[in-house]
Amino acid sequence: MSIEFIRLSPALGAEVRDLDISQPLSAEQVAEVRRAWLDHLVLVFRGRSLSDDQLCAFSRQFGTLDAVPAWHQYHVPGQPNVLIVSNVKEQGKPIGVLGDGEAAWHTDMSYIPLPPTASLLHALEIPDSGGDTYWMNMYAVYEALPAALKRRIAGLALNHDSSTDSSGEVRPGHKPVVDASQAPGVKHPLVRLHPETKRPALYLGRRLHAYVVGLSVAESEALLDELWKHALDDRFVFRHRWQVGDLLMWDNRCTMHRRDPFDKAARRIMHRTELIGDAPVGVAAA
Ligand code: SIN
Repeated sequence: MSIEFIRLSPALGAEVRDLDISQPLSAEQVAEVRRAWLDHLVLVFRGRSLSDDQLCAFSRQFGTLDAVPAWHQYHVPGQPNVLIVSNVKEQGKPIGVLGDGEAAWHTDMSYIPLPPTASLLHALEIPDSGGDTYWMNMYAVYEALPAALKRRIAGLALNHDSSTDSSGEVRPGHKPVVDASQAPGVKHPLVRLHPETKRPALYLGRRLHAYVVGLSVAESEALLDELWKHALDDRFVFRHRWQVGDLLMWDNRCTMHRRDPFDKAARRIMHRTELIGDAPVGVAAA
């Protein structure tokens, strides 16, 4: 039976049907899923119930699994590659990251030198409402920029702040940032050439404490405001309403995502793996 890919929105996203992902895939199936992932940016597998070993085995077919950073301390016990994203507390302590609040637009771990190519998020427990996740097509965002703005940002680099997560929490070992030009983190090209598709994408990371290298803070803020205002448009976005058993696999090199808040009394538990990426490469200035 051939794999079916069903487009989910004009912007990005496809549902994958007729594929058993609990078993090893053939080389042809891996290639077909990879092609669809590069074309659709986010793949949705519904109604799967994967153990952590199966989640890792499925993920590994598309790259090398990254270990959850040591400072997180929120990996599944005995599974150093599986991060828990959850608001649940046990004995008063969170079992995972991000809580129940909104997670602002971001791309995963853009503040490290080799940000992950892919993230895979598997839903184990889901609230009745809230907690939807949205993805943005950063190729389309870049393509739709006015030509003059494309020229202005060609060759620029952005510092991706490492101090604060997408729920607004200061990460362990960091101080609150007061001057974005001094924020810790890593500099990446603002326009990123996707290493596989060779298409340019706007690589914004996160808004908070971002800084365009070489500009004054005021100039950097003004430029970033302009870019974010352009990007925050529904035509670039796909919204996902979670069901238990969903697995979503997305490309961090050409998407951003955000999450709605949800009822703090509800339980939401997701398990995430990530694949080690390459150093982002910029697009040669025209
Ligand atoms: C994330 O931002 O990586 C998690 C998204 C979610 O909780 O839906």
